[in-house]
Amino acid sequence: MSEKTLRVGIIGSGWIANVAHVPAWKNLSDSVEVVANADVNPEIAATFARANDIPNHYGDYRVMLAKESLDIVSVCTPNSFHREATLAALAAGAHVLCEKPIATCRPDGVEMYAAADRAGRLLMVGQSSRFAPYAFAARDIVASGQLGEVYFAETTMLRRSGIPTWGQFHMMEGSGGGPIYDLGVHILDLIVWIMGNPKIVAVSASTYTKFGDRDQGKNATPDGALTPRPYDHREFDVEDFAGGFLRLENGGSIALKTSWASYIPEMYRSGHMLLGTEGGMTFSPLTVTSRMGGHFVKTEPELPAGHKGGFSGHFGETENFVKAIRGDEELLVTREEVLNVMGALDALYASAAERREVEVAAS
Ligand SMILES: NC(=O)c1ccc[n+]([C@@H]2O[C@H](COP(=O)([O-])OP(=O)(O)OC[C@H]3O[C@@H](n4cnc5c(N)ncnc54)[C@H](O)[C@@H]3O)[C@@H](O)[C@H]2O)c1
Repeated sequence: MSEKTLRVGIIGSGWIANVAHVPAWKNLSDSVEVVANADVNPEIAATFARANDIPNHYGDYRVMLAKESLDIVSVCTPNSFHREATLAALAAGAHVLCEKPIATCRPDGVEMYAAADRAGRLLMVGQSSRFAPYAFAARDIVASGQLGEVYFAETTMLRRSGIPTWGQFHMMEGSGGGPIYDLGVHILDLIVWIMGNPKIVAVSASTYTKFGDRDQGKNATPDGALTPRPYDHREFDVEDFAGGFLRLENGGSIALKTSWASYIPEMYRSGHMLLGTEGGMTFSPLTVTSRMGGHFVKTEPELPAGHKGGFSGHFGETENFVKAIRGDEELLVTREEVLNVMGALDALYASAAERREVEVAAS
């Protein structure tokens, strides 16, 4: 007997829903169908539905949830609304794929997972950066023990002029934070996952707002932002740079840098590095540096092909989510991992505000 087609609804009909979620769900058209979308702005909901050939659209996601008997909901609102949209979708009986970061503080994330437990539904956070062949290979190599004890990592994602201008990213009220929540959540999640998910226990950080409030460092609105919100730099009240140092329970540590705007020579500077007692790892291309006899050797693992395209990670994450719903795979992004990183992000902000190292709160 063929399995039931899963009915997908999308809450928040903006850029990431349009360029990543819809293509990823449509890639799974054998098993899922996007039947409805909602946006707090009904015109945006209608434009999005027309552009993506979605049969029903709503100006209020609660009405969509009540009417559509959804199996899966993609939550694609600005960060500050992830919590309430996820709780409502779970209460309506849907499994939820929520965009990153899960929420704007760890306690909200704890509450969201507890609600999923109560509803008997899956909640997965879209940590899309993990779903790449190099990331799986890096994690596999670390797990194999080839690097020995991994004691230090560095992770960086800097933009020269990349303040998002099409939504509410620049507003505390809509996003709860700046590049820490937009980019830092990706790179910290990725590096900690590659390291085997050591617990983050203490954090020291500084955050700066040096460009956004001067109307500098802006990004162009990307293709696929169907009806962008007008940008006013006087609303800018989040950080545009963060640097942090994170201590791990296993004695290791991580240095993190992220920015939307900074004077760097290139448009983007991204990268990771892992240092272990028997080998080190750098990325782009993935390279393991180790010793053979008396010589240093650099090894580039052969990687399988992955999904092509700008948001290929969303293809992998939706595939995993559907397989997990069907009971064929475990979720690749787990509660413990998400809450570990979210606690560290909370601590980054607390440390910057208090100008001292802070311990990561347990709940
Ligand atoms: N995984 C990634 O690589 C990636 C990339 C970009 C954005 N994101 C995440 O996706 C989310 C959305 O980002 P975006 O770029 O699409 O922003 P966006 O501003 O383009 O879209 C958000 C949409 O949500 C709507 N909205 C706001 N409040 C709402 C509410 N309460 N109910 C329903 N709709 C509401 C807005 O009107 C807007 O249309 C953010 O959480 C962001 O962190 C993830």
